[in-house]
Amino acid sequence: MKNIVILISGGGSNMAAIVNTAQREHWSDKYGARVAAVISNKADTKGLVFAREHGIATEVLDHKAFASREDFDAALAEVIDRFDTPGHPVLVVLAGFMRILTPGFVAHYAGRLTNIHPSLLPAFTGLHTHQRALDAGCKFAGATVHLVTAELDHGPILDQAVVPVLPGDTADTLAARILTQEHLIYPRAVAQLLQK
Ligand code: GAR
Repeated sequence: MKNIVILISGGGSNMAAIVNTAQREHWSDKYGARVAAVISNKADTKGLVFAREHGIATEVLDHKAFASREDFDAALAEVIDRFDTPGHPVLVVLAGFMRILTPGFVAHYAGRLTNIHPSLLPAFTGLHTHQRALDAGCKFAGATVHLVTAELDHGPILDQAVVPVLPGDTADTLAARILTQEHLIYPRAVAQLLQK
């Protein structure tokens, strides 16, 4: 069985979309894959509650408890690699995981580390993507699923979704419109990776 480990920092709605899709589409039968664990760098997130309710192993690794970014990433990798199975290295899915990862961590998971970013990359890397799209007068916005490389919010694009920017939009209304699309493209992109 190939294990998927999902990393979150908050609400975990993308993680929930992947878990629900995996169940609905019978990923364990179709692809021999399952969501094995959800790891959060914050305790008491909604996402952890959802994961536990769905019988998924959870771990909390508080980055503030580590002296350096390198120490945190090493501890994170140690937890993730427990989910490797013979012949099947774990697939690591960042879903609203708000941490910058070290180059060593990224290299360790090269080709099997994905992220979703709420903009049409390569536009608007980094934070506050929705407000920046509004400020720039964009008529369209969206989200991107990509493989993670050492450069923040870069890396080969796996899927994208586009939504219109509507008159009167605020960062919140635009974010909500994009998030519903994220819930479609992220499970789809992960399923495609599992078929490779
Ligand atoms: C999502 O919109 C995701 O694209 C974004 O955080 C939100 C997490 O929501 N990720 C980033 O900004 C990463 N740079 P969720 O916890 O409900 O899935």
